Formats: sequence, C-alpha cells, structure tokens
Amino acid sequence: MTTWNDLHAHRQANADRPIAALFAAEPDRAAKRSTEACGMVLDWSKTTLDDRAVELLLDLAHDVPARREAMFTGERINETEGRAVLHAALRAVVAENPAPVVVDGRDVLPGVADTLARMRRFAERIRDGKIAGQGGSYTDVVNIGIGGSDLGPAMAVRALAPYHDGPRVHFISNVDGADAHDTLKDLDPERTLVIVGSKTFTTIETMTNAATARDWMGRTVTNPASQFAALSSALGKTAQFGIDADRVFGFEDWVGGRYSVWGPIGLSLMIAIGPERFDEFLSGAAAMDAHFRETAPDRNMPVMLALVGLWHHQVCGYPTRAVLPYDQRLLRLPAYLQQLEMESNGKRVSMDGADLPRVSGPVVWGEPGTNGQHAFYQLIHQGTEVVPCEFMVAAQGHEPDLDKHHKLLLANCLAQSQALMRGRSLDEARALMQAKGLGGDELDRQARHRVFPGNRPSTTLVYPKLTPFRLGTIIALYEHRVFVEGVVLGINSFDQWGVELGKELALAIAPLLDGDADARQGQDGSTLRLAGLVDEMRGADA
Ligand code: F6P
Repeated sequence: MTTWNDLHAHRQANADRPIAALFAAEPDRAAKRSTEACGMVLDWSKTTLDDRAVELLLDLAHDVPARREAMFTGERINETEGRAVLHAALRAVVAENPAPVVVDGRDVLPGVADTLARMRRFAERIRDGKIAGQGGSYTDVVNIGIGGSDLGPAMAVRALAPYHDGPRVHFISNVDGADAHDTLKDLDPERTLVIVGSKTFTTIETMTNAATARDWMGRTVTNPASQFAALSSALGKTAQFGIDADRVFGFEDWVGGRYSVWGPIGLSLMIAIGPERFDEFLSGAAAMDAHFRETAPDRNMPVMLALVGLWHHQVCGYPTRAVLPYDQRLLRLPAYLQQLEMESNGKRVSMDGADLPRVSGPVVWGEPGTNGQHAFYQLIHQGTEVVPCEFMVAAQGHEPDLDKHHKLLLANCLAQSQALMRGRSLDEARALMQAKGLGGDELDRQARHRVFPGNRPSTTLVYPKLTPFRLGTIIALYEHRVFVEGVVLGINSFDQWGVELGKELALAIAPLLDGDADARQGQDGSTLRLAGLVDEMRGADA
C-alpha cells in the first residue's frame, strides 16, 4: 500500500525535472492530464504530476469510494458532532424520482422537497408583489447572516447578476455597525424584506444585526417582524424573535453552514433570480454529484483536483494555493472557498483525535484576474515561495457586444499559466537587456531582476459560460474536492471547533469594555492594556 513516503521519494527523485520537459516527453500530455465533467474541462497538465505520481496518489485515496458512499447514503460521517453530511440531498430533489436518502430510518428527501416548494412559493410571491411590505411591493431584500449564512448567497447573487430580475439584494454580515449602517441607510424600511439566516439563531453578529434592522424598520413600520423571514433550524428562537412560522425555512443538522447555499440559506438568491434559475443552480450541483459518485477515480474531477491539491501542499510543501477566477462576477468566490476549504480542512488532529502526522489543508486566497495581475502576481512569478494557481475562465462572456474584452480576458488567463510554467531564463533576460543597449555589469545586474524561474504549477478550469447550472457544478466540484482531501488526510471536514474559543473569549471581554472590574479577572496584561487604550481613545477626540 502506498505511503506518503513513497510520494516524497518520487517527488525527490524527479525534483529537477521541469514541467516543460514533461510536455516534451508526453506529446498528448495536455489531453491526458486533464479531466472532463459536466461540460467543463480541468487541465492539470501544467503540474509536475506524471503517471507514477498519479498512480501513487490514487492509491493513497483508496478510502474515498467507501467514504463517499457513506456520505451520500446518510451515515454519520461527521463523527465529532454525530451528524450525517447530506448537503447533496438538498439538490437531489431536482432529479426525477431520486433514490431515498435515509437517516435514522426516515427518507429525508420529502422534507427537503417540501421546504423547497415553500421557498419557491414565497420567492414567487415576493417577486410578483403578492407579498408586500407596508409601503408596497418589496424593492429590496437584506440578508443578515455570517460565514456560511452569508458567503454562499453573497457570492452566488453576484456571480449570477445577469439573471437577476427580482428585487435588489443586499447582505449584512459584520457585527461592525458600519455594515448595517451603510447597507440600510438608503433603503426604504416600508419596502424592504429582511431575511435573517442563521442555522443556530444564536450567532452574536447575526442576532445583533437582526435586532438593529428590526429597530430601523420599527421607526416607520407598525409590525416590523411581519417584514422579516428566517432561515434557521432553531424554530423556538425564530418564534421568540417574532417571525411567523410560515416565514421560517428550516434545515436539518446534516447541512453544515458552509454547505448550505443549496437550501433555505439560498433564499435571497432564489428571490433575485427566480425559482426556475435556482433549480438550474441545484441541477448543476446534482450533475456534479452524479459525476463524483459514479465516475472512476482517475477520471473523476473532484478526485483529481484533490490529488493535485494534496500533491502541491502535502508532498511538494507549497504552503498556500491561489484561486484566480478570470470571471469578474466570481469576485467573492475566493472568500467563499476560504471558508469551504479552511474551515473544513484546517484541523490539527485526525478523526480519532491523534495529532495529524502531516500538514492540514493549505491557506487559500485569491482575486479575479486580470486585477490580481496588477497586484500580487509579482510574488507568484518571482517570489521565493511557489504558489500553485487555480485559474478558471468561461469561454463566453455575458456581453456579446464586448467580446473584445472577453478575448483579452481569455488571452491573459492563458498567458499567466504559460508564463508561470515557462519562465524566462537568465540568457533570455540578458538578450533583452542587450537589445536595450545595456552592457557589462549593469547588463548582468538588470538581467537578474528580469529572470522568471518558471516551472510554477497551475491548473485551469474552462467552462462555457457562468450560468446558474454552471455555478452549481463549480461549487459542488470544490465541495467534493474538500471532501476527498479530508478523507485522504484522515480528518473530519465537517466540524469547526476552531471557531469556538474566540467566540467564548469575546463574550468574556465584552463586559471589560463596559468597565466591569470583575471582568478583569483572569485577563492577560496585553488584553488589559489594549482594553484600557481603547477606553481612553473612545473618550478622546477622533
Ligand atoms: O463561526 C463559524 C460558523 O459556525 C460557521 O461554520 C457558520 O457558517 C457561521 O458560523 C454562521 O453560523 P449560523 O448560521 O449558525 O449563524
């Protein structure tokens, strides 16, 4: 059986072999080292993966098929919380006659279908004005939520802007009052629907923002709660807040926050683009689910994307990876993937509680191209650390009259992966400097600054166009990639204990800022001094 040491040894033995040489050795490398699924192509040929590395990685991933089946069939694979992991059930319902998904002897799909039907009715009636605010049909919808209750719909609403034909949609997430203030200041409370998205309905940021929005609305609206809806599993708490049960859309504990955009948490997206487009979004994810579940590992896109990720981070030791959509409307995708990947696989112990014997998931970051090119790509090309890049680009834009923009966008995307692989040698740089008339020491000095080491790996995902269906396939691709990486690393990708300590300490520190002397007990010197400084500055002129 393959071990990590086998992979390290293979990498060591071939460390000097440039990616470009692999193309020379394998004339069909571009086609052979790419994977097709659901109308998209993932090209991973510009990496150092060869037959042997792929074979070893596939062997290392031998547990994936069994774990994958366990996930899809509702086993409690989130062992630290004793929960099943069934976000795929939220999109399974768009298929005709889906196979039952049984948890504790009960098929969960009828419940999912009921909630989806209620969401559709509600969204349609908001869109056609049959459900209206005190001042008339809703012009604006504000989603209040944070983390998984914000990033999914905020990312998707922006991504699918060309399909947006419902009321305007806004998002408040940060407890910083600036977020609520800046979002609400130009809205008409009498024509605004507020959706409070919180699985637990206890998250302090969300509940603080919800209370502020209710006060804001209460200035002119007689019954503000009647202009609220809630997306939550905590029905008792939503009732306490005053939200009518028929405006509460629940989901079960087998949907993790960062996997929840497919259900009630996606309501703001459904209101923006309409239920039919939302169904297409679900269908895209369902198509990727089917591909992931039914395709052999070596032709399976989420599996291959995961293996590339494991190769780069755990084997080659590259500490981060950049997600670089050449698709402006995917502006929030890197932030979305940061939560998806880092909250899922940023763990230090394996499923059984033992220390993880290797590094966990990488830091994920990024920005759309071409903007990033004029900012941080300098480091990607010439910095001392290698950053594997994940490019993605649509063949078609949504603006046929601006096709010249789109061709430039495409050309830039292709040029970046080429430049990263190819680089520029010292001889080439010297020739360039010579052509500019430099000579002697100055030529050498200037040339060295213009050398690109090259041999820097990247993948490119190409898809026809960013439609609702397509967005569904892309997000589900990344969800399953995270799952596969988690299985190979032996960690639980579905809990998030690492976010808890800070939340607890914030609750203990809050009274300190109100001058409560007892709250000083147990605080460290730095925190006490910072709290003191804040206190002084709050009283001073800004
Ligand atoms: O603090 C982390 C987290 O629990 C995320 O996992 C989740 O997406 C977010 O907070 C919001 O939680 P909730 O939907 O319960 O408000």
